[in-house]
Amino acid sequence: ARDQQLILGISLGLVLLGLAAIIIITQRVRVQRLRFQQQQQESNQEIFNLMLAQKQKMEEGKNSEKKRISEELHDGVLGAMNGIRMVLLGLNKKTDDSAVNMRGEALEKLKEVQEEIRSISHELNHASYRKFHNFINSINDLLKETMAASDLEIAFNYNEDVEWDSLSGDTKINLYRIIQESLQNIIKHANASKVDLDFERLEDLLKIRISDNGKGFDVRKAKKGIGQKNIRSRVQKLNGTWNVESTPGEGTTISVLLPYQTDQQETSLLVNEAGQLEEVKKD
Ligand SMILES: Nc1ncnc2c1ncn2[C@@H]1O[C@H](COP(=O)(O)OP(=O)(O)OP(=O)(O)O)[C@@H](O)[C@H]1O
Ligand SMILES: [Mg+2]
Repeated sequence: ARDQQLILGISLGLVLLGLAAIIIITQRVRVQRLRFQQQQQESNQEIFNLMLAQKQKMEEGKNSEKKRISEELHDGVLGAMNGIRMVLLGLNKKTDDSAVNMRGEALEKLKEVQEEIRSISHELNHASYRKFHNFINSINDLLKETMAASDLEIAFNYNEDVEWDSLSGDTKINLYRIIQESLQNIIKHANASKVDLDFERLEDLLKIRISDNGKGFDVRKAKKGIGQKNIRSRVQKLNGTWNVESTPGEGTTISVLLPYQTDQQETSLLVNEAGQLEEVKKD
């Protein structure tokens, strides 16, 4: 009877032990499952955050691209169209041979604008900038076209011993557009007869000045159009500074200070508030 009791006790103990083991194991499995679910939730959250950040980056990219397109259209295409319109306006009343010739030239210019629009639309596909084969020649062409479409006399001064073509593509295109818009402003607002365009290089600093002898304006009171806004954003893009000086009755001078920057440079430079160069690491 004692043995029987012992056996019964032992088997009862074993059953209880088994039950306890089962309970512990199922408990563990449940905890593990919960932990797994939690982990999954956390990684879902992480993926969601990543997607959100990605979307924000894309939005930013889109906005800066939109800004660039609007700047190119305003400073490039619109400027050229205005010039052609002026020429045609002047020719409207004339029928002699030279007027016929000039109309032909205006048509030629229209074709160039078409080319420009085409190249802007190509750039949108390839995300690259217009290339200058010879920067000084391009500027000279722009000045010639501007003089043909207005009564302006433009004098261009630059150091001939400087390799203007080795300037970075960004510097060249933005500088070209700044000059284009400044000339448009002179034609539209200044009523000037003379313009001076000066390019100067002082070591790694570029100084560009566009001055006219027109009627001037109150810099603080003038309404800010797209033109001045674009100039500001282009100068900022090039790490430079700029300044408009104008005296009513005496004319206007726009000065731009830029780092002399080539495409090959490892570090990039910026012009600080004091007009001095500083090095910034490229990221
Ligand atoms: N060379 C200048 N001579 C006289 N006034 C000028 C000259 N440049 C700019 N201004 C004045 O500054 C204002 C702002 O020029 P801005 O180029 O920003 O705008 P806008 O030429 O009027 O229009 P848009 O948006 O087409 O450029 C002009 O409206 C004009 O009053
Ligand atoms: Mg303007």
